Amino acid sequence: MYRVAVLISGSGSNLQALIDSPARNTSYSIDYVISDRPGVYGLKRAELNGIKNYVVDRKVYKAALSDEILKLIKDKVDIIVLAGFLSILRGEILVAFTNKIINIHPSLIPSFCGSGMYGIKVHESVIQCGAKVSGCTVHFVDAGTDSGPIILQKTVPVYFEDDALSLQKRVLEQEHIALPKALDLLCKDRLKIIDGRVKIID
Ligand code: GAR
Repeated sequence: MYRVAVLISGSGSNLQALIDSPARNTSYSIDYVISDRPGVYGLKRAELNGIKNYVVDRKVYKAALSDEILKLIKDKVDIIVLAGFLSILRGEILVAFTNKIINIHPSLIPSFCGSGMYGIKVHESVIQCGAKVSGCTVHFVDAGTDSGPIILQKTVPVYFEDDALSLQKRVLEQEHIALPKALDLLCKDRLKIIDGRVKIID
């Protein structure tokens, strides 16, 4: 069993998917939930499930946010999952957890990602450019923004009648499948990074 910290910034529906996944009993335990914003519903979800939860407020810690999070979890968890975490991790935490941090992003990377591209803004951009498919990506986190090796992607159609909210809902359903699956694969040591690409081992 691997010990996991889940980092969030909002409602935590992806956190809930990780809590509800059967893999939680076999592959991983969720030992910490950390939010970079106070008062978000994801913290309540952690509380309701008896998971230790902390706020490390991005407005208070600013450039020291990553170091502060590292202080909380160093040697206490094996893996970090970014589940709707909207701050960028920097510095020592990326070294301490090399290839042990995964992120869910609500588009098909390398489209609609990078700096400033998060949450509903992603879906607004997809609709605006007239793309016919979208989806989600789970990837390893490196020093760039949304640039680490891709683990899993799931696609959804984009309909002419969609708005950002209806598309977000369709993509979220896939996120809730993809994120627990990717974490399970990581915990079963089934992900191998070769030349910047991820091979899933049978
Ligand atoms: C999710 O759609 C996630 O992919 C996105 O924020 C949402 C959080 O929802 N993350 C990003 O945009 C990161 N770049 P949730 O709080 O209900 O899990």
